[in-house]
Amino acid sequence: MSNEEKLTKVVINWFPGHMAKTRRKIKELLPLIDAVAEVTDARIPNAGRNPEINEIIGSKPHIILLNKCDMADKAVTERWIKHYKSQGIYAIATDCKSGKGISAFKDTVKAVLADKLKSYAEKGITGKPLRVMVVGIPNVGKSSFINRIAGKTRAKVENRPGVTRGNQWFTIDRQLELLDTPGVLWPKLEDQAAAERLAFTGAIKDRILDTELLAVRLLTLLSASYPQLLKNRYGELDFDCDAYTLLCQIGKKRGMMLRGGDIDTERAANMLLEEYRSCKIGLISLESVEDYA
Ligand code: G4P
Repeated sequence: MSNEEKLTKVVINWFPGHMAKTRRKIKELLPLIDAVAEVTDARIPNAGRNPEINEIIGSKPHIILLNKCDMADKAVTERWIKHYKSQGIYAIATDCKSGKGISAFKDTVKAVLADKLKSYAEKGITGKPLRVMVVGIPNVGKSSFINRIAGKTRAKVENRPGVTRGNQWFTIDRQLELLDTPGVLWPKLEDQAAAERLAFTGAIKDRILDTELLAVRLLTLLSASYPQLLKNRYGELDFDCDAYTLLCQIGKKRGMMLRGGDIDTERAANMLLEEYRSCKIGLISLESVEDYA
């Protein structure tokens, strides 16, 4: 089995069976909410999304949260925000570790739902909270976001009229209620490049993946987009070679040698993936608007 086929199998096995159910549940709940907040990973805004989300939510007002922006390339994230804006979608960068960007969320909800708020005011309706469904594939930071925005006032509300028990509603304040994704949303299963990017960030565990191949693919991207960051981290490198040879150079520089003088490329690969994921190489975005929009 090729690495590509293995990757597809891993991703598919990760998201078994619940897909149609989640799609149905989200659609059922749409009449109860005013807007959808979709959380994605700022490092991979495209791969970090569910491929059917636009179709599932239809014309519901839509906000995209580029989360984990603390790990992404700031300039690239800003370009993504502009790109979504040009499509009429509000997007904000958030960092749920530090809380950066979270305070912009409430204002963004109000901006997205300005017409609705105006009509409430005209009809004299007061005290009706805006309801927003938070969606996103696993591991993008949905729970972290809800915990952040709810802060100490976090309160779980259940048994709402028309909402089955078990749906996770959170009262944020008098004006805002959030609903957690009712089920598991899958990522871009059939898209090899997207699956690979999910694996780079650690969103898909790589125990059964070929880590050397994964590291070589990551190096191909990094050497094209961030060669200086690689040099800063690993010292002078010769980029005039294939990515496997580059991995060997890095392993050698780190003294990762096997008995007999060969380079321990498996150790080098694990180190590279770990150092990328923990941002030791730098703040890196793996998808740019120009390539994936
Ligand atoms: P989910 O509900 O969408 O599945 O995601 P969850 O909030 O569980 O977050 C998944 C992982 O991503 C967690 O790390 C979380 O801490 C981390 N995370 C969430 N938002 C951000 C962010 O804005 N920046 C950074 N740097 N990390 C973020 P973990 O390793 O699973 O746990 P831990 O590190 O909290 O122990």
